[in-house]
Amino acid sequence: MLVYKYMFQPHGDARGQLIALEEKKDIPFEIKRVYYMYETAQGIVRGCHAHKKLEQILICIHGSCKIKLDNGKEQKIVLLERPYEGLYVANDMWREMYDFSPGAVLMVLASNIYDESDYIRDYQEFLDYVRDNPQED
Ligand code: TYD
Repeated sequence: MLVYKYMFQPHGDARGQLIALEEKKDIPFEIKRVYYMYETAQGIVRGCHAHKKLEQILICIHGSCKIKLDNGKEQKIVLLERPYEGLYVANDMWREMYDFSPGAVLMVLASNIYDESDYIRDYQEFLDYVRDNPQED
């Protein structure tokens, strides 16, 4: 199972750092939606779903958190702790976000608008779905 972590190019100078992200250039899809999580309570696990079509890039722009990715066969845990790291999360991938540091802000760039019908929120349903809809590796 391949995990793609983008390392974005900071534009730094004596004033500080700046990162610019353009769709189809720095981000591999057209960005239709941006959302972010903040003030996440201690011990909380978010996500716990997969998407049938949606692609996302997760960027922990402040603090750190862990992401568990699961393609139905393998699991990988990724630590996001730098504002210049972006984790690509493909469709058909179960994800859980946890271990948020105090004050962490997790920003998500998404390839489509919010669509509840694209969600798989039940883990067994996800396993059945990826078994019945195998993807090329
Ligand atoms: P939820 O799906 O529970 O977040 P996560 O699975 O990432 O932990 O979303 C929380 C609420 O926010 C829920 O009422 C749906 C709403 N929401 C939107 O309205 N638009 C969005 O783009 C997202 C991601 C969530």
